[in-house]
Parts: sequence; structure tokens; C-alpha cells
Amino acid sequence: MAKRPLILAVDVGTTKVSALVSEVHPEGELTVLGIAATPVAGMRRGLVFEVERVALAIRDAVNRANSMAGTDLTQAVVAVNGDHLAVIEGQARVQIKAGAVRAEDVDSATRKAAQISQPSGRETVQVIRRGLAVDGFRGVVDPVGMVAHEMEAQVFVVTGTNTVIRNLRRVSAMAGLNPTLLVAAPKASGDAVLADDEKQIGVVHLDVGGGTTGVTVYRSGHLQYMGVVPLGGESITSDLSVGLGVVGTQAERLKLEYAAVGSERDGTLEVRAVSGQSVKLIPVRELQDIVVARVDEWTRLVEDHLSRVDWPKGPGAGVVMTGGGSLLNGLQSHIEGRWNWPVRLGVPIGMGGLSDLSRSPGYSVVVGLARNARFYGVKADKESVWRRIAQLWLSLWN
Ligand SMILES: Nc1ncnc2c1ncn2[C@@H]1O[C@H](COP(=O)(O)OP(=O)(O)OP(=O)(O)O)[C@@H](O)[C@H]1O
Ligand SMILES: [Mg+2]
Repeated sequence: MAKRPLILAVDVGTTKVSALVSEVHPEGELTVLGIAATPVAGMRRGLVFEVERVALAIRDAVNRANSMAGTDLTQAVVAVNGDHLAVIEGQARVQIKAGAVRAEDVDSATRKAAQISQPSGRETVQVIRRGLAVDGFRGVVDPVGMVAHEMEAQVFVVTGTNTVIRNLRRVSAMAGLNPTLLVAAPKASGDAVLADDEKQIGVVHLDVGGGTTGVTVYRSGHLQYMGVVPLGGESITSDLSVGLGVVGTQAERLKLEYAAVGSERDGTLEVRAVSGQSVKLIPVRELQDIVVARVDEWTRLVEDHLSRVDWPKGPGAGVVMTGGGSLLNGLQSHIEGRWNWPVRLGVPIGMGGLSDLSRSPGYSVVVGLARNARFYGVKADKESVWRRIAQLWLSLWN
């Protein structure tokens, strides 16, 4: 039996590194063979701050995912995150010389559209196809074989600060990885949790992590907007730590147990002071006020991104929230009440052999990375190398 291609996906998040080894089936489905997560110190708001500590966490997560899968993969698809990510629109036209559109025409128009000029200090992370137009008709999904004079490709080029990207490559190399592909974390997350129908009807997707919130908007089946808010669940934890005078681990525990948006819960909590000596009583209201203040700031920052989207009727399919931070009690109904759009929790879908771990909202990015790179490693048996690369690129663009 022919060996199936394997993918190693790595998400270096602000609170944890997750690694996933999956197997690609001929139809493109994926089966999880190994998955692991290692808590990380040394990341801030999605960016690498302490290379050694981050490299150690990457190595640990990758080793464990590899050993669970019985593999030894080092080539990886890696997520890039942070509020330095920006999206630029590009478009380009090509003449159809052969009378009918060929796959090569789609590829060359897309490549041309992706050639945008960027300020110094920035580089391309990823190219996402936005749409194709044939002889002026927009919204063509698969133009190959259509008789036409010219074709236009519209793309989104995700760009980032090159030093940030270089640091990510550096820690990956220190951990023994070869990051073959980079994918923007908010895009990967959406690929894991959103249904095609939602993307078609229009949807807001939020990946609420520890130090960041990815904001993406889809309409007519394509990405329309991407931005990153440099705020996530960790800010609530550190506010509680400072505001209540407790250590970080206790603040995190209190958050998971008592924090809620829109709760009228009364009573008092017994907490241990930072010194560890004395126990003090804190009104639950005091904890809630701290949480609500941060959530209000977070909401305004997300709204600031959404206000840049030009949509006449709003997202027909509402909001899909994922990421560990989306589990905060009451956050879903807070958003629902404020924006008046339906909100659902998004968990990774469309993978076989999922362990419970990969079904939780904190793993959306790593699962989405694997789905993005589903053609990675396809054997060149009957296909030319060019064809393989084109497939790989197309998998990223869709
Ligand atoms: N049940 C819960 N209630 C509230 N918050 C939660 C819950 N479970 C996890 N979190 C929070 O989710 C955050 C981590 O989410 P996630 O694992 O998606 O982040 P990350 O990927 O490491 O960070 P980022 O995407 O910002 O780089 C932490 O702040 C954690 O406290
Ligand atoms: Mg994350």
C-alpha cells in the first residue's frame, strides 16, 4: 500500500505551543495521528520575545506529537500571529492565449496579482485568493476550460514585519524544525471551524487566544477582512492578579471558576494573598468588575476592526467564536446582545481520528494549518514538480 503524505503543523501561541501530525488521504481528508501542547513562556501578544524558552516549548510539543504518531517529521507548516499582520488587496489580468482558460492562466494571474509593492521592513506571509473574473464576469469559482479573452485574479496578500517573521523562523530552526510554509493564524483558525455555507452567507470569525484576537470576515465564500487585536484571555488573568493582589496561577484559577460577563453573582471569595501567608475575602463583584472592564476594552477594539468592513446587511451567518478565550462565561451572550447577531462557539471540524484535544477551541489554528497544507508532501509519481507546487499554492489560496 502506498504511503500517505504526512503533515506536521505547529502553532506557537501566546500560552501554548501545539503540534499536530496528520495523514492526508487521497480525497484530501486528514486523520490526526499525533497531537500535543506544551505551555510556553516567552511569547507576548502572539510574538516571540524569549527565543530559548520558546524553542524549548516547540521542541517538546513537536517531539511528543511525533512520538505519538510514530513519525520523525521536521518540515512543518507554522502559524504566524500578531497585530503586525496586515492585508493588502492585489489584482492582475492575463490574456487567455489558448482560447480557453488553463490552470496555468489561473496560476500566473494569481502570482501577478500577488506582486505588490511593500514598505521596507515588511514581507509576504501568505497569498489568499479572493476571486476570479473572466471577461469582466466576477465570482467565477473554477474557470478552467471556459472560453475567454482575459481573466482577472483578485488576491489578499497577508504581510508582516520581517523581523517578527525571522524570529519565528529562528526559534523554529532552533527547535529542529524546517518551517516550509507560513500561514496567518486567523486564516488557519477559520479554515478549521467555519462551514462553507457560513463563508458564503457572510460570517465574522473571532479567534480569542491568550494574547491576541484574530478577526476575520468572510462573504460570498471568500475572505474579506483580516486583523489582529493584541488582546486575549491573558489580559484578564493579569488584571485579576494585579487587581486582587494574587499570584498569576491563582488569578487564572479564579478566572476559570468565577469570571463571567453579565453575571449578577454575589458573595465573597477566599483568596490567598501574594505573600502566601494570609487569606483574604474578596467580593465576587470586585472580580466581575475587573473582568467586565477588560472585556469592554476588548469589545471596542474588535468593533474598531469590524467598522472597517463595508457590508450593507451585516454577516448573515452571524459570529463564530473560537480560541481558548472564547470560553469565558457569558462572552457569547455579551456579543450577541451588543451586536444583535447570532453567535456560536467554533470547534475544529472535518478531521478523522480526532483526539478530544484537537476538538477543543484552543486547537483551531493547528488543525486549520494542517487543512491549509493538505497537499504538502504529495508524491511526484505522475505529476510534475510544477504541478505539485501549484496544488500546494492553491490549497493556500482557497
Ligand atoms: N474555560 C475558560 N474560560 C475562560 N478562559 C479560558 C477558558 N479556557 C481557556 N481560557 C483562556 O484561553 C486563553 C488561551 O487560549 P488559546 O489556547 O487559544 O491561546 P493561544 O493560542 O496560546 O494564544 P494566542 O492565540 O493569543 O497567541 C488563556 O488566556 C486561558 O485563560
Ligand atoms: Mg492561538
